[in-house]
Amino acid sequence: MIRQKIVAGNWKMNGSKESISLLINGLLEMEGSDSEVVVAPSFPYLSQVESLISGSAIVLAAQNVSQEVKGAFTGEVSASMLGDFGVKYVLLGHSERRSLYGEIDALVASKVKAVLDFGLVPMFCVGETLAEREAGKTLEVCERQIQAVIDVVGIAAFEGLVIAYEPVWAIGTGLSASAEQAQEVHKAIRDFLAQSSESVSQKVQILYGGSVKASTSSALFQMPDVDGALVGGASLDAKEFIAIVKAAG
Ligand code: G3H
Repeated sequence: MIRQKIVAGNWKMNGSKESISLLINGLLEMEGSDSEVVVAPSFPYLSQVESLISGSAIVLAAQNVSQEVKGAFTGEVSASMLGDFGVKYVLLGHSERRSLYGEIDALVASKVKAVLDFGLVPMFCVGETLAEREAGKTLEVCERQIQAVIDVVGIAAFEGLVIAYEPVWAIGTGLSASAEQAQEVHKAIRDFLAQSSESVSQKVQILYGGSVKASTSSALFQMPDVDGALVGGASLDAKEFIAIVKAAG
């Protein structure tokens, strides 16, 4: 099955009005691509980025969302608010949210449900720590994180979401997984989904994230089960990010 590649830039808590304007103007010089190009600014910049990318093929993502629909939840942002700003994707289950903000599997699953209920697309992150990899628990961890979401939204809902495999040891460390290591886990994730639904397992796009750079991306994108990348640091540099998009084809 041919799955469209996605190259998504997670800007994390970086940027200013000025730097974001420069970054988007740089990205707008990009030639057309067969891949879907996505950017995820911090909440305050969604409106600015929505205006700057208007009329282009670049797609907007948010970095987080509340599991609640509306009401007295000070400081939270709902899926419907994100929809108001043209957001398509919402990052969920990122290891920084899991480890720094206590987002356990059940909370991530309820956020996935909130996003799907509103018609947006979760970009749902899974991945193991270095200690878990060294203990041979990589697949066990990814499967537990995925099963928690299946338990809440059902396997059929996975046709409407994107999975990002992000080994925690590779995030922001410069130590990317090799293309072969990524392929091994992506294939295992697809096989795990196939136990519930073969057709869903073939349709779902699985991105790799963790120190992706232009120089390593071509090898990653040649892997049959790698359907794109979730890029952190390298997405803050327009030239580098465009080179990754080009490598995706
Ligand atoms: O969401 C992106 C990942 O956390 C990867 O970040 O490319 O800076 O390692 P990184």
